[in-house]
Amino acid sequence: MALASLHDLLVDELRDIYHAERQLLKALPKLAKGATTPRLQQALQEHLTQTENQVERLEQAFGELDQPVRAKKCKGMEGIVEEGSEVLEERGAEDVKDAAIIAAAQRAEHYEIAAYGTIVTYARTLGYDTVARLLEQTLEEEKAADQLLSQIAESGINQQATTGDEDEGDEDGGLLSESRGTSRRRAAGKAGGSRSAGSRGGRGPTSGRTGRR
Ligand SMILES: [Fe+2]
Repeated sequence: MALASLHDLLVDELRDIYHAERQLLKALPKLAKGATTPRLQQALQEHLTQTENQVERLEQAFGELDQPVRAKKCKGMEGIVEEGSEVLEERGAEDVKDAAIIAAAQRAEHYEIAAYGTIVTYARTLGYDTVARLLEQTLEEEKAADQLLSQIAESGINQQATTGDEDEGDEDGGLLSESRGTSRRRAAGKAGGSRSAGSRGGRGPTSGRTGRR
């Protein structure tokens, strides 16, 4: 389709994000299945339900513009989804994989935030207020999903993932050992925790016990 006007560009962007959302309908259940932390699994499942609504909103937007519902291959999301599946195929500690799944999902969210931000701006500029309002709801959902993923990461997964499979020598004067101590305690509280046994070196496991929490 020739891009002769901002209207053409708007329709082109809609087709692109429509394809991107439909890719996510397939990818999100896989990411949820690959995740271990229940809160992360739940967030990804909930975002799948949101994504189904977002696809419907896009179909409404095509209708508002008197355009056929049509997808245009979104190579950007294809790459992001492909990288996400690579993460799922990797073997590794559960917490580290969860951190990687969050990173993959957030890449997808940021791509969508950029796309919807652009689309809403074009729609407003062109006076398509219904389309702008419709997709602004989606934009807000994407931002909220992104923030929730950040919260889940920061509320424990990243900390737990710091233990990983390595566990040696710190000469940081206590800064890192504090976080490692904390994460050990958290990891120890998880069934099937991913930290490796032993290799605590000459430094006691209590090195971080005076830290917060
Ligand atoms: Fe979406």
